[in-house]
Amino acid sequence: MMILGPLLSLVLATSTTASQSPIADPTVLEPSTSKELLHLHRSLIEIESITSNEAHVGKWLSSYLRAKNWTVETQKVSENRYNLLAYGSKRETTILLSSHIDTVPPYWPYYYNETSGVIGGRGSVDAKGSVAAMIMATEGLKGKLQDDISLLFVVGEETGGDGMRAFSSWSKRPSSHEIIIFGEPTEGKLVCGHKGMLGFALKATGKAAHSGYPWLGVSANDVLVEALGELLKLREHLPWSTKYGNTTMNVGRIQGGVAANVVAETASANIAIRLAAGTPDLVRGQIIDALEEVKAAAKKQGGDLNIEWASEGYPPVDIDCAIDGFENMTVNYGTDVPLLSGHHRRYLYGPGSIFVAHSDHEALQRKELEEAVLDYRRLILKATEVRSKEQQGESEEQVEL
Ligand SMILES: *[C@@H]1O[C@H](CO)[C@@H](O)[C@H](O)[C@H]1NC(C)=O
Ligand SMILES: *[C@@H]1O[C@H](CO)[C@@H](O)[C@H](O)[C@H]1NC(C)=O
Ligand SMILES: *[C@@H]1O[C@H](CO)[C@@H](O)[C@H](O)[C@H]1NC(C)=O
Ligand SMILES: *[C@@H]1O[C@H](CO)[C@@H](O)[C@H](O)[C@H]1NC(C)=O
Ligand SMILES: [Zn+2]
Repeated sequence: MMILGPLLSLVLATSTTASQSPIADPTVLEPSTSKELLHLHRSLIEIESITSNEAHVGKWLSSYLRAKNWTVETQKVSENRYNLLAYGSKRETTILLSSHIDTVPPYWPYYYNETSGVIGGRGSVDAKGSVAAMIMATEGLKGKLQDDISLLFVVGEETGGDGMRAFSSWSKRPSSHEIIIFGEPTEGKLVCGHKGMLGFALKATGKAAHSGYPWLGVSANDVLVEALGELLKLREHLPWSTKYGNTTMNVGRIQGGVAANVVAETASANIAIRLAAGTPDLVRGQIIDALEEVKAAAKKQGGDLNIEWASEGYPPVDIDCAIDGFENMTVNYGTDVPLLSGHHRRYLYGPGSIFVAHSDHEALQRKELEEAVLDYRRLILKATEVRSKEQQGESEEQVEL
């Protein structure tokens, strides 16, 4: 009985909520919601919030939510940078909707073309479209279900996720969240997972000399070029999977030397690997092995080659996506999803396309934004159903015991 009690009451609570029919008509967006959605989205975009400058948009958003009777808590992430956690009558909710309020640079102003229905500007897609749609979706739900939802808007997603890391390890983090919906541009589909990530820098050192007498020095550029040659060969042999395709490696930045007539003393390259299978440790091992001979040869000459790992990295991230009535896909970009610790059902959905997200023509259709509101509502309902079925299963098992 001790075990059965709380489980049964949870199941009952969920079915009571369902019978209240929390959405008037799940297929139509009320005109007033549509208008408010446009206003909210516009206001968010008009406040520049490039990573590390999120304070203004955060302040505006908390007053907006407070005016709608949300309780808003702030969590300090670093000087003048705050995550927002908003909820209704109770803090310990089952459902959490989360997205980010920072954007990549540079700032692009808001525009809305009523003829074409196109809304553009920095953040219109990534991820202020998700933020606005999540809020309007939740506002449209009624009663117990709305009271069981919290909103989390983090800073710093675009540069390594310090906001989500801070929330994940927050001493005041509610332990009740069982269903978490992340908002990032997914073209209105559910994402079944995304590739993992491993970033590193190669640092070659040599010894400067006059280019007329190169044997008096050691060229760090030569060392780096040889190392990169080995990595290009390795690139063809990295792990792959049918779900995510090939692991890819991008040499995004190379620097070395000071002038054509000087043997280069230092050289470096910054590299990002998107993992389609395996673990960061496995691929780290492959990289170290591939560079072993180049490093040994460089050292013998008086130079060196070292690897600096950008972070611990993470393997491919599988995400729940089995919900009726949604299309699904996988993506190659990283998100905050792996940074939130704990076991919960997690979903990733948002309006707009990643292909324009970080570009100078970041934009989406007003219709996509509106559909996202309806889809978030549908997703909340369906995910709640999946969870309560699961719990019914669990309590039946315990009855048999
Ligand atoms: C907020 O709550 C107050 C007090 O209960 C109420 O009078 C007001 O109408 C509410 N505002 C909104 C936007 O729901
Ligand atoms: C708005 O969109 C229409 C239809 O695509 C286009 O003809 C028009 O030039 C656009 N207006 C502006 C100001 O870009
Ligand atoms: C993966 O790499 C192999 C070998 O380079 C190539 O033939 C194949 O087309 C790639 N697959 C995808 C999905 O890009
Ligand atoms: C993803 O979509 C495909 C194609 O519609 C479908 O066959 C598959 O079952 C979906 N995956 C999940 C986990 O729902
Ligand atoms: Zn994003």
